[in-house]
Amino acid sequence: MSHAAARIDETRLWQRHVDMAKLGGLAKGGVNRQALSAEDAAARRLLGEWAAARGYDVFGDAIGNLYVRRPGTENDAAPVVTGSHMDSQPTGGKYDGIYGVLAGFEALEALDDAGVRTKRPVQVVAWMNEEGSRFQPGAMGSAVWAGHYDLAAMLAVKDRTGVVLADALRDTLTAAPCRQVDGFDRGFHAYIEAHIEQGPRLEAERKTIGVVTGIQGSQRYTVDVTGEEAHAGTTPLRVRKDALKSAVAIVAALERHMHDPADVVRFTVGRFECKPGSPNTVPGHVHFTIDFRHPDAAVLARLGDGIAKVAAAAAGPCKVEVARITDVPPTVFDPRIVDLVRAQATALGLSNMDMPSGAGHDAMHVAPFCPSGMIFVPCERGVSHNEAEAATPADLAAGARVLVEALHALADE
Ligand code: GLV
Ligand code: MN
Ligand code: MN
Repeated sequence: MSHAAARIDETRLWQRHVDMAKLGGLAKGGVNRQALSAEDAAARRLLGEWAAARGYDVFGDAIGNLYVRRPGTENDAAPVVTGSHMDSQPTGGKYDGIYGVLAGFEALEALDDAGVRTKRPVQVVAWMNEEGSRFQPGAMGSAVWAGHYDLAAMLAVKDRTGVVLADALRDTLTAAPCRQVDGFDRGFHAYIEAHIEQGPRLEAERKTIGVVTGIQGSQRYTVDVTGEEAHAGTTPLRVRKDALKSAVAIVAALERHMHDPADVVRFTVGRFECKPGSPNTVPGHVHFTIDFRHPDAAVLARLGDGIAKVAAAAAGPCKVEVARITDVPPTVFDPRIVDLVRAQATALGLSNMDMPSGAGHDAMHVAPFCPSGMIFVPCERGVSHNEAEAATPADLAAGARVLVEALHALADE
């Protein structure tokens, strides 16, 4: 083990998770720290305080991505970057996202504590709004950074209560101020993101480290079904335009369209809103979301392109509009980073396995710009996007040890 891995402090890293989990903490043990909320601002402030105590430079960009930089001996050299996100699902866990930020910060501290000076700066990033639960779409900060989404369009996005993202960002930066930089620096030397697996494989195979080879492709849609509001007591069924009945038929037709005996297709209707929501009015409008994923680009395109047609055919007397909100192709990580992560895990004596990621991560938007990869650690029963999400201090520290070794090697290139 090099000096740096030996200085990863399991207790300190665990305590930082405990401290962060208080910000938006929920009764059942999880967190609600949605993007640009007061709780998110508090998390940014806390990370900023820890960074200030170490003398690191803290700065932000125009979409609210937050950076913490440990200088290198050649400070103008392209930085080696690590990180993830601090926002959570509305009923999220204590590790999804925040682990990647805290493992990255622990790596900076371990380099300090080991007295290591790297040639390149090593930088932690907390990408804004990875979850996409409050403001859609998700992975927004990294996608704007990458130029995949338009900055002005994203600043104009509203949450469900009508709050405009630009206003929420302004309030967040007032509560958690930091130096703001112009533009988006895409000149990363390399990027490695640590994350809990969010699936059951590592635990089942009794492995500590997942060497992530890629991320499956994903698409998001919104579907709006419009019928006609009518009196529930007087309107004969045959003349109704019941938006809920049509929406249910559409979802059933889409389930058939997405049927996959191999169980590789991921198809989810996660939000389903019926208006006006009155017991004695025939529903006039239904809005729902589709999250659809597959590792194969051709299957993703074929099934995804069929959604609008299938929906129209099942809509009955109602009108249906399908909008594709995101279309992120499958990501294949750079073999050099994949090999480096595997080699460092093996050198540290940590059991490991190669695996793809079923969940989306900011790394999918970074990968086109620099050699990128990810490190997974196990989470209990693979449960995630759930307050019950759990990981052990030892596994979190093991991932941070692999991370610091990989960052160290890349930062001296
Ligand atoms: C991220 O949380 C995802 O939806 O994969
Ligand atoms: Mn995440
Ligand atoms: Mn998530």
